[in-house]
Amino acid sequence: MKFFVDTADTDEIRDLAQTGLVDGVTTNPSLVAKSGRDFAEVVQEICGMVDGPVSAEVTATQAGAMVEEGRKLAQIADNVAIKVPLTWDGLKACRALTQAGTMVNVTLCFSANQALLAAKAGATFISPFIGRLDDIGEDGMEIIREIRTIYDNYDALSTQILVASIRNDEHVKQTALAGADVATVPPAVLRSLSEHPLTDKGLAAFLADWEKTGQSIL
Ligand code: E4P
Repeated sequence: MKFFVDTADTDEIRDLAQTGLVDGVTTNPSLVAKSGRDFAEVVQEICGMVDGPVSAEVTATQAGAMVEEGRKLAQIADNVAIKVPLTWDGLKACRALTQAGTMVNVTLCFSANQALLAAKAGATFISPFIGRLDDIGEDGMEIIREIRTIYDNYDALSTQILVASIRNDEHVKQTALAGADVATVPPAVLRSLSEHPLTDKGLAAFLADWEKTGQSIL
């Protein structure tokens, strides 16, 4: 499973990318607003930090204007993936941008049927938002399992499942168990995956015992 980082904070991306764990980045208009930076500038900077896809979202709502914005954003770097919303116009824009050779991430997906349409429209990635489904009392992970089954039923559907709106470690584990292609994860959640109280306890004990030997490795 690939890890994308779900942020427009370039300091965070730079730090996390040093681990070699970051396969791409997703942004959205809310994350760009939170960064307080110029959209094109921040996307260009991120594209220079990671080799993999960097999602940049259109803000137009009509297909033609989405395609125009998408073409402009795609000029920023070769690894830009254009994010379009899962609306009827978004599906038309997805088709046009895909046919022009641009990676497309269809976002704001909340059902398996929406994901089926996005795949038929040629999306490179489908982004189901599991956390927001949990927020309204549904089981977000269930649609990931449904989409996996549907895509696996048809060789012609090659869209990658990019699980979004991940809020915690359990979401990440369930995403991997469901066989999703990508998890886009907030920086704090990615860091927390490395943590376990027994790791901390074990390390403290090893270091205390090592101290007693009076030795040093260097
Ligand atoms: C990523 O592509 C999405 O925009 C993001 O994961 C949404 O997460 P949220 O529901 O926590 O805002």
